[in-house]
Amino acid sequence: MHTIVLATQKGGSGKSTLAIGLALAAKQAGFTVRLIETDPQGTLSNWQRRRNSDDIVVEPIYHAADFAPRLTMLADSGLQLAIVDTAAGLSAATTAAIRYSDLCLIPARPSVADIEATVSTLSVARAWKRSYSFVLNQTPIRGQRIDNAASALAEEAALDVAEVLARPLIVMRNDHQDSLACGLAVSEFAPNGKSADEIRGLWRWIEARLDLSAGNLLIDQVMSAAECMLHAASEPAADETTTLAS
Ligand SMILES: Nc1ncnc2c1ncn2[C@@H]1O[C@H](COP(=O)(O)OP(=O)(O)OP(=O)(O)O)[C@@H](O)[C@H]1O
Ligand SMILES: [Mg+2]
Repeated sequence: MHTIVLATQKGGSGKSTLAIGLALAAKQAGFTVRLIETDPQGTLSNWQRRRNSDDIVVEPIYHAADFAPRLTMLADSGLQLAIVDTAAGLSAATTAAIRYSDLCLIPARPSVADIEATVSTLSVARAWKRSYSFVLNQTPIRGQRIDNAASALAEEAALDVAEVLARPLIVMRNDHQDSLACGLAVSEFAPNGKSADEIRGLWRWIEARLDLSAGNLLIDQVMSAAECMLHAASEPAADETTTLAS
């Protein structure tokens, strides 16, 4: 299983919107997906209620200590992808989510305040040696503001833009807001629109970044099944336990 976390200190940067968009893009690409909500604000649960379908499960995990055991159980159940939406700020739950992630996506609008607010999330990802990428969200269609923001993020990470910035950039469009309002993801609400294209493109970028090729996924699943079998074989059978106890 792979775990992707959306985290940044800044409120309203698009964590929940991107989590939902990516979950559906991944599902449409053939992955089994679960959305995990660590934000008591409940944006994902509310979206799920409006959706009137449980094809994507939204699971709340509010306590940092519950993270690792729950992710292990989900991985053992054969789930391929967990996408975690976190609250603004930097709580213990967010830190745990980053710690157990394969990729931490840090969304930022192209504004100084959003870019400055990425610093603390970046330090946590680095402290736990987790992969991370910035996602520029709610950008204008074009303009100097985008280049300035990309350069500022690269400077903050002290790396090249190409190494730290996920592609494509996600432009500010009403489709994102309208889709969430009716319990859909943008790729369901306006499948042929530009926003849906961008989110699908972002998912493909993540697939490549995590090397989620079909062959690698199969290897992951075989390894996980083998681990489960080994685990089961190492536990004493019920009659053995009775004999040992008597
Ligand atoms: N690319 C986009 N274009 C237009 N609107 C967007 C885009 N991304 C997010 N939004 C809108 O911006 C607002 C904030 O987005 P969202 O709730 O996803 O942010 P958040 O980071 O999860 O916020 P919080 O920190 O409060 O949890 C929402 O109204 C959402 O629909
Ligand atoms: Mg949110």
